[in-house]
Amino acid sequence: MHVVTIPQPDDFDAWRDAARSLAAGGVAPEEVVWQVGDAPGDLFAAVADAGPAPPGPSFAVPRAFIDLAKRAILAREPERFALLYTLLVRLRHEPKLMDDRADPLVRRLDTIAKDVRRDIHKMRAFVRFREVADDGGPRFVAWFEPDHHIVRVNAGFFIDRFASMRWSILTPEVSIHWDGTTLTEGPGASKADAPDGDPTEEVWKTYYANIFNPARLKIGAMLREMPRKYWKNMPETALVPALIAGAQARESGMIETARDTIGGNSAAALAALREEAMGCTRCPLYKPATQTVFGEGPVDAAMMVVGEQPGDQEDLAGRPFVGPAGQVFDRALAEAQVDRSRVYVTNAVKHFKFEQRGKRRIHSKPGIGEIDACRWWIDQERLLVKPQVTVAMGATAARSLFGRTMTIGRERGRAIDLPGGGVAWITVHPSYLLRLPDEVQKAEEYARFVDDLRAAAAMLEPVG
Ligand code: URA
Repeated sequence: MHVVTIPQPDDFDAWRDAARSLAAGGVAPEEVVWQVGDAPGDLFAAVADAGPAPPGPSFAVPRAFIDLAKRAILAREPERFALLYTLLVRLRHEPKLMDDRADPLVRRLDTIAKDVRRDIHKMRAFVRFREVADDGGPRFVAWFEPDHHIVRVNAGFFIDRFASMRWSILTPEVSIHWDGTTLTEGPGASKADAPDGDPTEEVWKTYYANIFNPARLKIGAMLREMPRKYWKNMPETALVPALIAGAQARESGMIETARDTIGGNSAAALAALREEAMGCTRCPLYKPATQTVFGEGPVDAAMMVVGEQPGDQEDLAGRPFVGPAGQVFDRALAEAQVDRSRVYVTNAVKHFKFEQRGKRRIHSKPGIGEIDACRWWIDQERLLVKPQVTVAMGATAARSLFGRTMTIGRERGRAIDLPGGGVAWITVHPSYLLRLPDEVQKAEEYARFVDDLRAAAAMLEPVG
């Protein structure tokens, strides 16, 4: 039996080195015990005791495995090291295994990694700093309770965002401190070690009040959006009763006030919104999907295009319209002389809904409940981007924009005022074109689709 001690619960490098050496020595997964802790002496004694590893045939590990392992290692799941090692050993004989998303081991590790990814995004979206003063001047302290071992891996994100501030993030397991140049680590803390409310909260209250959309007010949905566990740390939750009370009054002025958030920076607000969406659990679709596929494009785009939901390839890539429907879309945009890099492209529903059939994931249409649950996000995207023209591709996109069922045949070919400003142009979805069996009809319908995109673009006011 080989006992491998990993010094820290999130130590991918230690796991990789040990796993490499064990795999090269032909050690079977059931012969390895993995443990975490500050073991005295030689941490890799058990591996070394096995003698120098016989030079086993080296084999290339797919990038997808490394990505998966780097996330799964951070899970609180005690079996993660062993599961990953089993997968590594199997990959040697089954090089395509990572593509087999129906394989129980791949699926289990995928689920673990996904949970970790969501936790990483939750920390980024929900950490709130409070200001304290010490001898060195202002310092910002936050308390957070992660589900997994994600604090170290998230440090770079907070350094990038708050590079010039001195800050600490306290968590039960570990604390990280940034003094403007160096990151240090300390022991875990308790909530009592973190300060309560102060003026820093105003920044977040302003942000939250600005992106708060009274037209979509639903307390149940809000509670789901911000998991209850985080509410107690979030200053903006103190605003909720006032926002609810003022909702009707605010509604008419909503679009105007939603403009410049986070110090007048809509791009930062959109980035924060995207981060929040990564942890979205507003409907059950987040469970089987790989990740939230948020919109992408410039925050000042004059045109927004809305699709239905990400497909299989979008779900894996984390970007909208990169699969077969995306290719049709790209070609049609080019023919309509619309530059995709200047368009904000998003979907009505941000998670891939599918049915697993054997190894295949078959697209399944989102229901009204899912479309309506996801309207929260597209409403916020529209508030921040403020497109002049929004192209709705297909019935799901139209439902999401108007909040009611729209018949494409009846509404197509004209600009329709949108609630909250701007106009919509309704057209078909590129997947519909892909499904048409008759080549002549396909060509005709495709030409009409291009015409729709061209007509929508022609409505934009000239720049400058
Ligand atoms: N279909 C959509 O509606 N959106 C995508 O992102 C991909 C396919």
